[in-house]
Amino acid sequence: MLAVILSGGSGTRLWPLSREAFPKQFLPVVSDDSLLAETIDRGLQLDEQVRVLAITNEEHRFVVAAHLQAQAPERTAGIILEPVGRNTAPAIALAALAAAEENPEELLLVMPSDHVLKNNDAFRQATAEGSKAARAGKLVTFGIIPDAPHTGYGYIKSGESHGTYQDVAAFVEKPDQATAERYLSEGGYLWNSGMFLFRADRYIEELERQQPAMMAACREAWSQRKADMDFTRVGADAFKQCPDDSIDYAVMEKTRDAVVVPLDAGWSDVGSWSALWDIQPHDENDNVCRGDVITEDVSGSYIHSEGRLIAALGLTDHVIVETDDVVLVADRSRVQDVKKLVSQVKAQG
Ligand code: GDD
Ligand code: MG
Repeated sequence: MLAVILSGGSGTRLWPLSREAFPKQFLPVVSDDSLLAETIDRGLQLDEQVRVLAITNEEHRFVVAAHLQAQAPERTAGIILEPVGRNTAPAIALAALAAAEENPEELLLVMPSDHVLKNNDAFRQATAEGSKAARAGKLVTFGIIPDAPHTGYGYIKSGESHGTYQDVAAFVEKPDQATAERYLSEGGYLWNSGMFLFRADRYIEELERQQPAMMAACREAWSQRKADMDFTRVGADAFKQCPDDSIDYAVMEKTRDAVVVPLDAGWSDVGSWSALWDIQPHDENDNVCRGDVITEDVSGSYIHSEGRLIAALGLTDHVIVETDDVVLVADRSRVQDVKKLVSQVKAQG
């Protein structure tokens, strides 16, 4: 099995700690290790045969390489560099082409590099169940029990059961608010975790069927690849011609061969400061404090100092994040709108 680690996004949802130049996968947000380090480890721990293949961009190649060198020098299958971001469907296609050269039926476990999973045993169990379906040619998703009508996720409607997994009766990527609310009240839907498991040849076949132009551009780019130590650079002009789309829209919404393995492993995609408050242990006042922080009459808050002492008094449900050049102060219920501040900062230049 190949753990395919996607590290191409430029999330700003944990701004000001995450920046375009330093997205959240490189940050130690819940432990002393970065989310990427935890993801690599999660893949390696599945079993001794697993090797790790990373896909990233030029800008982040050295930080990704340093992670692999430190954690898995013997079990690295390389680092593919995308000349431009074309979202996850083409990125995974390049990984599948790389894997298929050695073994077309190689299982690919696609893992976003910026998620948290608390229970690695439950994850191992779920991937073991998923492997059986994947070997038989299914495209396996991992489904999370939803607890809110979140519009940033894919929704999976479970169909016929096969014991530990179910057919995907429908896959809807990022529905609107009303639809998400309906799914929650109807029941029978799971959130797509963003991790996938399938054979390399099956993904290639599906992409060829659903998105022939995308697959053709990826094949062309792959055929022009050049190796440079652990890095593989694909043909830039060909890859720039590739349509931009996520695996969720490009493949998962359309395929008839998907199944879902339910996953109850303390999953979070750490999509906001509030999510980070949710998933970490709270102190006796329901706060999560990191770094140099003192509080008096503060509750329900996430307070994070990178350097200076934060002294907070008489606050409820706040987020305070201090970095070298920015201090964010927000109501905890409003952190989805941090991107509005980021736009203002960008506009100021
Ligand atoms: N290499 C590479 N290249 N990686 C990429 C690219 C790219 O062009 N674009 C995104 N990624 C990486 C991101 O870094 C992240 O780790 C992962 O792929 C998923 O991309 P996101 O942009 O974070 O997707 P999303 O959060 O909007 O939606 C996905 O995840 C949700 C769960 O968190 C979907 O799969 C949803 O259906 C799912 O619910
Ligand atoms: Mg995401």
